[in-house]
Amino acid sequence: MGAHHNETVAVTGVTGALGSRIAAALAEREVPQLLVARNPAALPDLVGAQRRGPAEYADAAAMRQALDGASTLILISGHPTGRRLEEHATVVEAGLAVGVQRVLYVSLLGAGPVATYRNARDHWLTEQFIAGTRLRHTIFRAGFYGATPAALADENLVIRGPGGTGQAAFVTHGDIAAVVAAVAADSSTEHDGAILEITGPELLTLEQAVAKIAAATGRPYRYHAETLEEAFSSRWQQGISGNQIEAWISWYQAIARGDVSALTDVVESVTGNPATGIERSDWWPEPNTSY
Ligand SMILES: NC(=O)c1ccc[n+]([C@@H]2O[C@H](COP(=O)([O-])OP(=O)(O)OC[C@H]3O[C@@H](n4cnc5c(N)ncnc54)[C@H](OP(=O)(O)O)[C@@H]3O)[C@@H](O)[C@H]2O)c1
Repeated sequence: MGAHHNETVAVTGVTGALGSRIAAALAEREVPQLLVARNPAALPDLVGAQRRGPAEYADAAAMRQALDGASTLILISGHPTGRRLEEHATVVEAGLAVGVQRVLYVSLLGAGPVATYRNARDHWLTEQFIAGTRLRHTIFRAGFYGATPAALADENLVIRGPGGTGQAAFVTHGDIAAVVAAVAADSSTEHDGAILEITGPELLTLEQAVAKIAAATGRPYRYHAETLEEAFSSRWQQGISGNQIEAWISWYQAIARGDVSALTDVVESVTGNPATGIERSDWWPEPNTSY
């Protein structure tokens, strides 16, 4: 096994917004990579990177093949499917089977067994699963994306929900990627076993965050605070499924209840650069693109 083999990092989710930025940051650091996707044709062409796949998280055999040769696995959480723990566990076990020694998992701020935000619960389960393996691991609990309100907007650029006056330190994809890439490129044991909460530089209400998005994009986004009753009935009338309603509303409620109100210096302490205000985000999703 050559010296470089020990340093090869496999990255999943590279066809997405976060994984693509992590892979680009690792390429800049000249870290050898395996870019893993269920649709490898959509993978970027990066120096020092091999394309692997097609490998869906739930496909153990394809994942073993895709991860073969990696020493570190960066696991980007998949879309909420109702079977996310099983999917993530399958990827980690595939890594274990082919000699991966370290897992870096991008979880979510506020992850917990009874987290208000529905989608934060299986992040917590995945964290527990990883901690129970013999692998070296670091958990990154990413704050709520600064880009998400733009994706939650309707066609009139209105973001409606029961977020109250709760606050969150919304974070950019770029900052999360920079932290994960820095830890991945550091082969020391400094961050082993750690849970790093990655947040933006300031706590904002949804109203304040949306005002910043409007100023940054020059588009008239605005926040309309709903009561819980209004939130349910407006979505129900649009024919949205109960599961989707629960996920969306619980996202706003997590903010309202202060579940994601942590403010940390992880971006600066790990990367050496201060956290980026959401108004300096490099990307805004189109309305109605949140799943
Ligand atoms: N912190 C937050 O506020 C926040 C907000 C939303 C989501 N998230 C979580 O963070 C993750 C990354 O965020 P993002 O913005 O990069 O999302 P994204 O742009 O939708 O990218 C998700 C990536 O994961 C891949 N993926 C999803 N399910 C998979 C599966 N079952 N098997 C293989 N690959 C799979 C996707 O592949 P394809 O291109 O093939 O679909 C894509 O590459 C999301 O998937 C979600 O779990 C966090």
